[in-house]
Amino acid sequence: MTWTGQCSGCGAWNTLEEVGAPAKRAGRGGGAKRGVGPKPVPLRDVKAERSERLGTGIAELDRVLGGGLVPGSLVLLGGAPGIGKSTLAGMALANIAGAGNDVLYVSGEESAAQVRRRAERLGEAALSVPMLAEPSLESVLAALESERPAACVIDSVQTLAVPDAAPGSVGAIREATSALLETAKRLDVTLILIGHVTKEGSLAGPRALEHLVDCVLHFEGERERTFRTVRALKNRFGATSEVGVFEMRQGGLVEVLDPSARFVGEARPAPGSVVLCAMEGTRPLLVEVQALVASTEIVPPRRTATGVDRNRLALVLAVLTRHAGVSLSAADVFVNVAGGVRIDEPGADLAIAMAIASAHSGQALEVDGKPLACFGEIGLTGEIRYVAHADRRVGEAQKFGLSKVLGPPSADEPVPGLAPVGSIKAALSGSRAAEHLRRAA
Ligand code: TYD
Ligand code: MG
Repeated sequence: MTWTGQCSGCGAWNTLEEVGAPAKRAGRGGGAKRGVGPKPVPLRDVKAERSERLGTGIAELDRVLGGGLVPGSLVLLGGAPGIGKSTLAGMALANIAGAGNDVLYVSGEESAAQVRRRAERLGEAALSVPMLAEPSLESVLAALESERPAACVIDSVQTLAVPDAAPGSVGAIREATSALLETAKRLDVTLILIGHVTKEGSLAGPRALEHLVDCVLHFEGERERTFRTVRALKNRFGATSEVGVFEMRQGGLVEVLDPSARFVGEARPAPGSVVLCAMEGTRPLLVEVQALVASTEIVPPRRTATGVDRNRLALVLAVLTRHAGVSLSAADVFVNVAGGVRIDEPGADLAIAMAIASAHSGQALEVDGKPLACFGEIGLTGEIRYVAHADRRVGEAQKFGLSKVLGPPSADEPVPGLAPVGSIKAALSGSRAAEHLRRAA
């Protein structure tokens, strides 16, 4: 037996526990009688009642959940401190209570007075939510038994006092979650567990819970900015690609129902600025990708990505150098998605490349007085690759007066308004890009 400190699955340290190997089963045959084990049932005969979902009264959150909370399910809501987890959970609970359900808010994190002050900002409905402050795990379990709420928020799972375990340790968090899970399933209570995750998502505690819960939501955004996004990292009852967009205001979180308007409403043609037609789940989303290229003496030069994946940026830079003759070895490169949203799809590549090339040349990419709009994945040989939903991406751009969009050649029907371009080289040779756009007319 060797000591193993790091989980090879998730990379977390000190989360492994030694477990005795199960006793060997008797070999096949061996005189065992047939017909003593449990009898498997064809799936068709399994009872699966479709229960009504519990709406949170927050459309963006319900959409990310796959149509509201599934009764009796366990949802982990993770995010950096101060991002708005308590606010979101408090608002959802107030709405659920407002719809005539029993609810419970458990706060181990803040005092009752602090929770009250937040509720005052959120409005009258939030003030009527029953709460339990600074409790132990045992008292929470007892409260669930006696109150039997339809929905309960535990804020946060790291702060519940568990006997014989250090507060906030992986052991304590795991034990609290297992006990809550057992009780919630038995009593059909929908549980929302709040967990702090550092910006890098590195805190071992909540990550260790991901396989125990039905749904993992991640709440993110830059604390200094007002935009916040909620996405599902795991969802047993829906897709994981949906994103809900919110804005933090004085009276709590406000849903941003038309995020494209917010993110590109003010975009003007400028060197280094491009509109990306992204897809977030089933919804097209326009964002402004900005790049800055500045010559530097620093070796190696800086590469900073905000809102896009660092590895994609590295790939795009390599392809620009190798296949489009854009040399950036003596320049710092900064790429940013305006508004503080994060775009997590390969379709962002072309916009990143065009923004960098435009920043490098100092020339604004402009189509009919508006910034260039584009999308597409870039392959290692410099080709622009197909990504799904070309028609919806172009449609969203056209809603905002961006009549022509540069994108990958489509495999099937030509998309009206889409100017297909086969390679990054072709996209960047000015006259040819113009020609592509003209042909799309
Ligand atoms: P909070 O929900 O406490 O964050 P978390 O539980 O993730 O740590 O809220 C964080 C910030 O939101 C806090 O700095 C105050 C701000 N806020 C508003 O701007 N408006 C509001 O109506 C509320 C309730 C909070
Ligand atoms: Mg909080």
